Amino acid sequence: MSPQLFRAVAALAICLCPVVQGDRLFTVNCQPLTIQRGDPIVSPGQISSHVHAVTGGTNFALTETNEQAVAAKNTTCDKALDNSNYWQPQLYHERSDGKFEIVKFEGNVAYYIERACDYAPGRTNCGDAPKPIAPPQGLRMVTGNPFLRTYNSSDIAQRAIQTFCLDGPNEGERPTLPRLPCGRIRAETFFPSCWDGKNVDSDNHKSHMAFPAIGDYNGGVCPESHPTAILSVFFEFFYDTGAIQNPNRLVFAHGDASGYGLHGDYLQGWTDQDRLETALDTCEGGPDSAGCSLAVLPGGKAGSPSAQVPVTPAPEEDVGLNGPLDKLPGDNPVTGEIP
Ligand SMILES: *[C@@H]1O[C@H](CO)[C@@H](O)[C@H](O)[C@H]1NC(C)=O
Ligand SMILES: *[C@@H]1O[C@H](CO)[C@@H](O)[C@H](O)[C@H]1NC(C)=O
Repeated sequence: MSPQLFRAVAALAICLCPVVQGDRLFTVNCQPLTIQRGDPIVSPGQISSHVHAVTGGTNFALTETNEQAVAAKNTTCDKALDNSNYWQPQLYHERSDGKFEIVKFEGNVAYYIERACDYAPGRTNCGDAPKPIAPPQGLRMVTGNPFLRTYNSSDIAQRAIQTFCLDGPNEGERPTLPRLPCGRIRAETFFPSCWDGKNVDSDNHKSHMAFPAIGDYNGGVCPESHPTAILSVFFEFFYDTGAIQNPNRLVFAHGDASGYGLHGDYLQGWTDQDRLETALDTCEGGPDSAGCSLAVLPGGKAGSPSAQVPVTPAPEEDVGLNGPLDKLPGDNPVTGEIP
């Protein structure tokens, strides 16, 4: 996809979030890196239970550490300083004959947005609060839960997960997978913006982070338990659902036909933490503008996402790139349905 199209789509997305006027943000636009059963956060060193669509630094591997991510030689993303890896479960089309076709993954946009603020006794809004810090070096985190097949709108973590159907009669944002047809879909995962200030990971890859205590999943004042606000990280993963012939239903790789189990993984691999920290201050002329220091180009990347090959080859397995599969990789039964 052209960077122009990415930007157009990104701009559209911003308007659809409950945006507070004056939010500052920048985006990172990435091409696909690999589609495989790797997940160095949840299943390090093992084959994951399901296939992921992965973007970012070329050091992605089953055992990848954040230090290895930082040391990557290149990235599929348009910000040359960003060797992070971004992933979500891959999307499939379950045909009416029961076979599974991979849906063309087009890449993602990762947003870094000023939305949350630190806990302080008595603070009820972010009006005069200090700006959030950048995601700390070494941060690993997960948002969403692959086991969910029902929706609880009172659960802030579930509100952070949704899809957007673009171009078609089912256009719009919803907590489920959309019914086809949609020209494209965007799988959206918003991460918790509040950090405990100490741990860059935790056993469940979630409890070192929290959603705001005042506000909603996408902004507000952090809780006392997780007092440090970071730039909010939000992913949009894009799929070409318009190319699907004889549409039946969409399922995520973990066997989820509802979409409630959509989740995202973030492995921080920025090569220059200081520039990440001050990036938004230098984005004169608007987000993602040429004035933003992140767009300055060590290594000659002219601000466009590029195709790259991971240094460590993906586990040898057909994930559907050679034609329809009888089963989802990992043999995940399909459960859940769109209500
Ligand atoms: C829905 O989520 C809220 C907030 O987490 C929780 O208090 C409530 O028990 C949940 N309801 C159900 C039916 O699980
Ligand atoms: C990364 O890859 C792009 C596209 O192939 C290339 O133009 C660029 O020089 C590479 N960057 C480095 C640091 O090797």
